[in-house]
Formats: sequence, structure tokens, C-alpha cells
Amino acid sequence: MSFYTNPYAEELRKTARAMMAPNKGILAMDESHGTCNKRFQKLGIPTTEERRRAYRQLIVTTPGLHQFISGAILFDETIRQSTDSGTPFVQVLQEAGIIPGIKLDQGAKDLAGHPGEKVTEGLDNLRERIAEYYQMGARFAKWRAVIAIGEAIPSRACLDANAHALARYAALCQEGGLVPIVEPEVLIDGDHSIERCYDVTQETLHTVFDQLYRQEVAFDQMILKPSMVISGLESPAPASVEQVAEMTIRCLLNTVPASVPGVAFLSGGQSNEQASAHLNEMNAKYGDRCPWRVTFSYARAIQQPALDYWRGNDANVPHAQQLLLHRARCNSAASMGQYSPDMEKQPALV
Ligand code: 13P
Repeated sequence: MSFYTNPYAEELRKTARAMMAPNKGILAMDESHGTCNKRFQKLGIPTTEERRRAYRQLIVTTPGLHQFISGAILFDETIRQSTDSGTPFVQVLQEAGIIPGIKLDQGAKDLAGHPGEKVTEGLDNLRERIAEYYQMGARFAKWRAVIAIGEAIPSRACLDANAHALARYAALCQEGGLVPIVEPEVLIDGDHSIERCYDVTQETLHTVFDQLYRQEVAFDQMILKPSMVISGLESPAPASVEQVAEMTIRCLLNTVPASVPGVAFLSGGQSNEQASAHLNEMNAKYGDRCPWRVTFSYARAIQQPALDYWRGNDANVPHAQQLLLHRARCNSAASMGQYSPDMEKQPALV
């Protein structure tokens, strides 16, 4: 045990609590250029900085978004951008009561000697980057590790390397005043069973929390962003909503310390309705057994209908914003165990 006391500790606890406010979740809008451009290309939207700015403007200026969203994760380009009238996006979010966050990882790269596996990079100069983002108004951060499931993977090398990087990132964040979102994503790609996903997710989370402990990351000043325990997209026996909820919560109860303030899932390629239904089932059935808040930190499962409708056309902004708000509202309800598929028929209330 070291004698290090972090002057930011109380602020970090307060930020984490605000991120995990009842009724709310986190909006991931931190797609890298590569990912954002790929999604734009599919819809014929020009892959320019200006169109990316216009799209992110649509999101941050959505009226009423703060009712359901506590924090928004931004990409480096986005945190430096402003609205048409010159107001920085960070200020727009702050004025709406939404906490700005920043993606700090620099992407998953091939892991040497391990075909099919990745390790996330971005630790170089991280202390300096954190200081700059804090000064710009960010109060939390995210780092995503990806774990693929295959015949002989994940390897121990992949789990250890990714967990170590996550822990070093998280310790640096806490030192610099940013609440770390720790995101080990077990990928949904493949034909694996839900049982296989359970085993891999449990091993991943044990490894991650072991490394977080070794690096003396304060569990009460971080958020976990896991994937759900779910069958692979090409599985011949897709798991039911009840199975996903039961096995995900069991896995988390076995691995996540009670002092962690919250668990905020990624959507990871699930359909919009599935992502809401799974989160809802977890809260409705097991909410009273969980020591942490269980909510969402979705990108695709909040944004996709809005992006599909907008298609780069500014005349479509108001309706696209309604679609975004609708998904935020459905997931907010799911985070309280109050979602039902009937909500899909109702327009969002602004
Ligand atoms: P999805 O919800 O689209 O999986 O994205 C969440 C995220 O932030 C991935 O890093």
C-alpha cells in the first residue's frame, strides 16, 4: 500500500456519482475518424471535417437530451469544435448539464505474435494529454480494449497486455482529475455460445480488476463499461433476453467490486431494441441485488436511427434529433427497469 493521496479524490467521486445519476446514462459519440467515416460512407455522407462537425452539432444541441444523458464521450476533433454560431461543443454540453468526456485511447493495434488479437495503444504522453483535456473541460475519459473470441483466443498474453494498459490509463486519469471509464469489450463477432462468452468475460474482468488493484486505481472513482454476456452474432442458438440478463449480472457479481459506482454497457452491435430490452431485464429482475448502478454508454444503439435519417442533410436535423431523443429515453427507462417494447411506438417527449 502506498501513502499516495489524490487531491482529486473527492471531485472524482462526485463526478462518478453525477455520471451514474438515476434515470441517466452516457452517450458515446467518440467515433474516431475511421469509424465515423465508415458510417458516413455507408449513407453517402461526405467524409469531411465539416460534415462530422454538423453531425456532432445535431447531437449536442438536441433539445431535452439532458433528461436522459449525464455525460457525452467526445473524440479529440469534436472536443475542439463549435456550433455554427461559434459556441464550443463543450460549453453547449456544460450549459445543458451534460458532463463532457474524452476518448483517450489511440486505437487497437495488432498484438505482436498473436494473430487475430489486438492491444490498445495510447499511453505515450498520456499525462500531458489528460492535463490539456481537463483544462478544456473534460471530467471523465474512456479507453477501449477489444477481446476477440475464437478457437484458441483470447490468449493470456492478450488479456494481460490489455488489462495492464487499462490499469495504467486509469491510474493516470485519476491522478489528473478525470474519472476513467474502463472498457474491456469482448466482441460479439463469431458463432460462439453464451456460455463461452460468459467464460471469456469472467476471465477478462478478473484480469482487469487484478491489474486495476495492482496499479492502485481507486475503485470508487471509476466506471466499468463492459460488453454484455451474449451469444455470438452467428451463433446457431441465440440466447434469450432472460439468459443474457441472468448471465451478465451473475458474471458482474462475481468480478466487479461493490465499491465501483456504476456499470455502463456498450451496445456492441446489438439491435437498438435488443440493447434496451437486455438492460431493462437486468434492472427489472436483478436491480435490487446489484451494489452498483447498471446503465448504458451506447453509441450505435442511441445514434443509429438519427444518423440514418439525417444522411448529411441539414433539413433533416429536427426529426433526427427526435429519433435520438427517443432512443435516449428508451434506454433511460431501461436503466430503471421501466422500458417496454410499447415505448417504441410513442414519440419522445421533449
Ligand atoms: P457501441 O455502443 O456502438 O458498441 O459503442 C460504444 C463504444 O463506446 C465503443 O467503444
